[in-house]
Amino acid sequence: MNAATSTPPPPPAAAPVQRLHHYAFRARDAEETRHFYEDILGLPLYHIIQSDYVPSTGEYYPYTHFFFRLQDGSFIAFFDLGDDESALPSPNTPIWVNHIAFRVNTIAELEDMRTRLQAVLGVTDHHVFKSIYFFDPNGIRMEFAVDVASAAQMEQESHSARARLDAWTERKAQWRLDRAKGLTTGALKPQQNDRPEVAARAAAAQRS
Ligand SMILES: [Fe+2]
Repeated sequence: MNAATSTPPPPPAAAPVQRLHHYAFRARDAEETRHFYEDILGLPLYHIIQSDYVPSTGEYYPYTHFFFRLQDGSFIAFFDLGDDESALPSPNTPIWVNHIAFRVNTIAELEDMRTRLQAVLGVTDHHVFKSIYFFDPNGIRMEFAVDVASAAQMEQESHSARARLDAWTERKAQWRLDRAKGLTTGALKPQQNDRPEVAARAAAAQRS
């Protein structure tokens, strides 16, 4: 391999992607969902679309699609398909993996959201941000988060993200080979533990 081919290509130009437009989930019941998002969380119902046919696919599937507005003009949206059915949880994914997180600006605002909700996990300290977790009436895991790291710290840490991911990818390739040979059966562990205090807490809880 010569020097020309070993030099990584320059990163592509930044995509013109501004912010979240909307994220959509299935709702068991529109009013139950409206009550939670509007009356408890304080996100106003802002738009509704009802149709018998799905515009993107053309298939017949009557729906009521409704949107709650965040302060930056983006939305979280839902479909009530008129059948009182909830989306089933993923059968092969832990419940804490798939979730959506919304930003608040201050710790006081995070505490305010905690007060509005009856049952939350947290405040959880992620070092660079702090979070609370809860489930909406549709079983969607949600998070409110407030940044506590400075923009400069986040920018500094961003410089090592690609190298760390590449190290993981390299180890994963080896893990796949080992698994194919029957040399390993379990999942691959990360090469680094950024949150050792969580393991220490878990060990202490097991002892008590
Ligand atoms: Fe998260």
